[in-house]
Amino acid sequence: MIVNKVSDLTSEPLFFELKDMIPEVDVFLKIEGLNIAGSIKFTTAKEMIRAAKASKEFSPHTEFIESSSGNLGVALSILCKEQGIPFWCVIDPNITEKSQKLMEAYGAKLIRVTTPDENGGFLGTRIREIENRLKSNPNFIWVNQYANEANPNAHYMKTAPEIDSEFDRIDYLVIGAGTTGTLMGCARYFREHHPNTKIIGVDAIGSVTFGGLPKKRFVPGIGTSRKPPIANESLIDKIVFVDEKDGISMCHYLLDHYGLLLGGSTGSVIHAVKQLKEEIPPGSVVVAISPDFGEKYLDTVFNQNWVLEKYYESLSPQS
Ligand SMILES: Cc1ncc(COP(=O)(O)O)c(C=O)c1O
Repeated sequence: MIVNKVSDLTSEPLFFELKDMIPEVDVFLKIEGLNIAGSIKFTTAKEMIRAAKASKEFSPHTEFIESSSGNLGVALSILCKEQGIPFWCVIDPNITEKSQKLMEAYGAKLIRVTTPDENGGFLGTRIREIENRLKSNPNFIWVNQYANEANPNAHYMKTAPEIDSEFDRIDYLVIGAGTTGTLMGCARYFREHHPNTKIIGVDAIGSVTFGGLPKKRFVPGIGTSRKPPIANESLIDKIVFVDEKDGISMCHYLLDHYGLLLGGSTGSVIHAVKQLKEEIPPGSVVVAISPDFGEKYLDTVFNQNWVLEKYYESLSPQS
């Protein structure tokens, strides 16, 4: 295939079969890290930019501003570079060095916040920073992935139909919740087209998205310290809460057993599948989504010293 736009540097839908993850259950992982931005956020970013450009607020002077823990920031940086739109990204100390450098390479202007919010995370601080900047620059459009309906729409229009076309039947669809865009878009699609598919949302222990108690968390992409306005629990059958450390130890298991180096949130999603194993009947088909690969997390999730420093104990192996 020949392409002439950076935004077309994506792969065909790919699913990795996790053989023997649960006996007598077929578990498949949708791989979303194989595009130029390296994550599922490329899909989200494309649709949010398309929708913003179609809105009456957009002008030749528009500059985008957004808060991101990494993947969305990288995706927006690439697309804004391609489309010649200035992009400002508010980041916090949980961001990886690689994401930061990538955004800078693509010309994004970074604004760093370092003060935790009232829940111990940085989302509240990042949002306050954006609100202040919006007051001082009328050319800013806040992409606002936490409240932007184009975020779930992206997954309703692309991610979910890609999953649907690959399988005759899906019994459980298991999706991690950050902004909840992927989860909500896929949940809405499957509710409409396949109401028998059980939609399982995966949240981190310490995230407040689905009513959990706030706690310090270190794995980016999954969980929030403020409930996203686009989150709608009525579309979901069950929420599974996963301890970050269990998610990390699952990342190591996936590497050891399947040779797959995947991001921290993928570990949590697959650990959630494991947590459900007693209630998933034999013969079921389970599809989960892997938002990104693990290279960005070599100094964190895949570094035993970092794990010890953050969680005060080493990992317990998966059984
Ligand atoms: C690594 C990772 N995991 C999970 C997610 C969850 O996606 P969403 O924001 O659509 O809930 C994201 C989104 O960036 C992510 O980057």
